[in-house]
Amino acid sequence: MTSIDQAPDAVRVGWESRVWRGDVLQGDSLQTLHIETDQVIVVNAQGIITAVLPAGQWQGAIDHDFRQCLIAPGFVDAHLHFPQLDVIASPADGLLDWLERHTFPAEQRFADPTHARAVASLFVDELIRHGITSAAVFATVHATAVDALMQASLSRNLALIAGRVLQDRHCPPGLRDDTEQSLLETEQLIQRWHGRGRLSYAITPRFAPSSTERQLAGAGELAQAYPDVWVQSHVAENPDEVAWVAKLFPNARSYLDVYHRFKLVRPRSIWAHGIYLDDADRALIRHHQASIAVCPTSNLFLGSGLFDFKAATTSAHAWALASDVGGGSSFSPFRSMTAAFEIARLRGHTLSPVELWWHHTTGAAQALGLPNTRGRLAAGCEADMVVIDPSASELLGRRWGQALTDHERLFCLALLADDRHIRQTTVGGNIWKSEGSLGSSDQCTPRAHQG
Ligand code: GUN
Ligand code: ZN
Repeated sequence: MTSIDQAPDAVRVGWESRVWRGDVLQGDSLQTLHIETDQVIVVNAQGIITAVLPAGQWQGAIDHDFRQCLIAPGFVDAHLHFPQLDVIASPADGLLDWLERHTFPAEQRFADPTHARAVASLFVDELIRHGITSAAVFATVHATAVDALMQASLSRNLALIAGRVLQDRHCPPGLRDDTEQSLLETEQLIQRWHGRGRLSYAITPRFAPSSTERQLAGAGELAQAYPDVWVQSHVAENPDEVAWVAKLFPNARSYLDVYHRFKLVRPRSIWAHGIYLDDADRALIRHHQASIAVCPTSNLFLGSGLFDFKAATTSAHAWALASDVGGGSSFSPFRSMTAAFEIARLRGHTLSPVELWWHHTTGAAQALGLPNTRGRLAAGCEADMVVIDPSASELLGRRWGQALTDHERLFCLALLADDRHIRQTTVGGNIWKSEGSLGSSDQCTPRAHQG
């Protein structure tokens, strides 16, 4: 992908309304999500969808004719780590070993702002290349790394939620916070970035074992002082980690209860993994309108465990799919949907294709508490769209051509598509197009940007 930073003349091309044509994934609820065939989507110069209507009712010109493609809301990745771009595909004997051996050394390099800026640019381009238009992202303990990530996202109009990692114990000295300084920097970053463009800030304690009680209490105080920012952390990912937390916080009822005691479980709080929760924890998530970021490829890669999709469904708490790169083994939403399906099957549960798509698009946006102008293709919504072309590979083209129902179509796309099939990603009205055909889909260039 050509970075937008390297192609300044390709951006800020002013344009009036633009019109897309294709089959559209639509619906405000799990029950109503469906493919509406041969629709027209009109987007104004501010990047807002002004109409979605049957193509037969449209008299005007078509700028982007994607008949035979699916136009879906941009994917929402509910949890991943920007400094772990270079950690992806680093094997280890489970979470704690992986953190020590690969992750902490990689994150130390982000003390260098030049390195942070270079990786931030690659990272956000990789999101767009995979059709992801919103994501909740961990940076490192370095405020300059947050600045780099936010700046790279701002220039592409991405709807990112991101935050500086808080960790003041059980990590290498180069990554260990001075507690008060970490809280001060968090507040400064909230003021600098939250609400700027489509950016949001998340208070980001890494996980309970790497924060002192004082740091968690400070994070909770900031969350109270700034009720409209997000909170994100890890919870109940791995049995060794869960046992460690029980030792460190002997008075807490459960791992999640540690965070609850510090008033961190609340609306707009995102808890990654949640494999080892019990029903009381799930009820707490639901009661506080929090959400679980489910990370299937990570859970398989690190051998963390199998998320209980049936219990999540029964307890009716919000959840969204996530890549958890670099613990996760791919940026691809299709890989996450496939792994989610397989994990559910290993526990005797079957996720429907509509559930897979819902929890990675519109339902994910709702779970995270994003504004209801995000994650949907409807009039008044921000134009975050991904065009998926089944014919970009012969196998999927054949399978899609034979599929008779929405369920079959969505299932074969979830299981067989990859980044080759992303024809175009539109990010808040900015159009990024994948040039070329099979095998050259990494040639993404920004095509236009509202004035
Ligand atoms: N728990 C604490 N830190 C991390 C991390 O970076 N990745 C994952 N998967 N789990 C964590
Ligand atoms: Zn993570």
